[in-house]
Amino acid sequence: MAKYAIKNVTVIGGGLMGSGIAQVTAQAGQNVTLVEVNADVLKKTEASIATSLARVAKKLYKDKPSDGEKFIAETRGRIKGSTDPVESVKQADLVVEAIIENIDIKHKLFKDLDAAAPPSTLFASNTSSLSIGEIASVTNRKDRFGGLHFFNPVPVMKLLEVIRTPETSEETYQAFMAWGKSIGKVCITCKDTPGFVVNRLLVPYMAEAVRMYERGDASFEDIDIAMKLGAGYPMGPFELSDYTGLDLSKHIMEGWSAKYPDEPLFKPSAVINKLVSEGKFGRKTGEGFYKYT
Ligand code: CAA
Repeated sequence: MAKYAIKNVTVIGGGLMGSGIAQVTAQAGQNVTLVEVNADVLKKTEASIATSLARVAKKLYKDKPSDGEKFIAETRGRIKGSTDPVESVKQADLVVEAIIENIDIKHKLFKDLDAAAPPSTLFASNTSSLSIGEIASVTNRKDRFGGLHFFNPVPVMKLLEVIRTPETSEETYQAFMAWGKSIGKVCITCKDTPGFVVNRLLVPYMAEAVRMYERGDASFEDIDIAMKLGAGYPMGPFELSDYTGLDLSKHIMEGWSAKYPDEPLFKPSAVINKLVSEGKFGRKTGEGFYKYT
């Protein structure tokens, strides 16, 4: 019998990633506590999960909509909302943190959670830009801490990156791999290195696409067409930036520029900064590189 059996999962943060993680966990039959800052935000998070579940149900139960309704109700029934992070981890087997990418805020959260959770509770961060070891450093459970990095849209993207720090124990790592599989993801393993696997390759690619456009080598529309039709990507780099959010692109480039100060590729992008300063964050605001009606 595995040392850590995971049935109760607490997800901290109900944004795009956290709500997706809560959804796929509940879809797999596990109990989820989803933590957000207040009841209003929780309501919005629950509504976005309901919309996504409807898309999943439409695909899974296209010949029997009544079973789809049942699936949605049962999955939603496994997700409990909470506004109290400390209380929410007391029964948790696993905590997945998906809050803002700010080390001080994550440290404060994990210090509080570490004091409140049972010793057997495993902790993970879904960070895409910070070091897992550095996040874990404020806890007394560095052996029971690792990275679980999901991809947007979480209900659709099959990959889960499982990140081991030098201090993550073998049992914790095995529990993370087994859990990833139990929620239907394909797991790969990576050391605690900047960007892990996907973003270490994707960020320079996206940054170079912006540079090409800024140099006037090609239009952003043509760069998107080129990468879809010439390289088989489902979205071009500008469509993807609009999809994940230009505010995030700006934040990621700032982070990489601090990590690699001598690399011109990651220097702030005038085009992205201008769009963000105009409130054009991509799909979520109705306009980014493209307009969405
Ligand atoms: N919830 C549930 N289902 C969803 C969904 C969601 N949020 N979004 C899309 N779907 C489903 C749709 O219902 C649809 O289902 P059917 O096949 O049954 O019709 C299917 O996914 C395809 O969706 P669409 O037809 O709307 O559009 P599409 O074919 O263009 O696919 C996409 C959309 C899956 C997003 C695809 O364009 C894609 O894979 N894009 C690239 C995404 C990507 O690269 N993500 C990684 C970003 S980087 C990251 O996440 C790292 C990080 O650190 C933040």
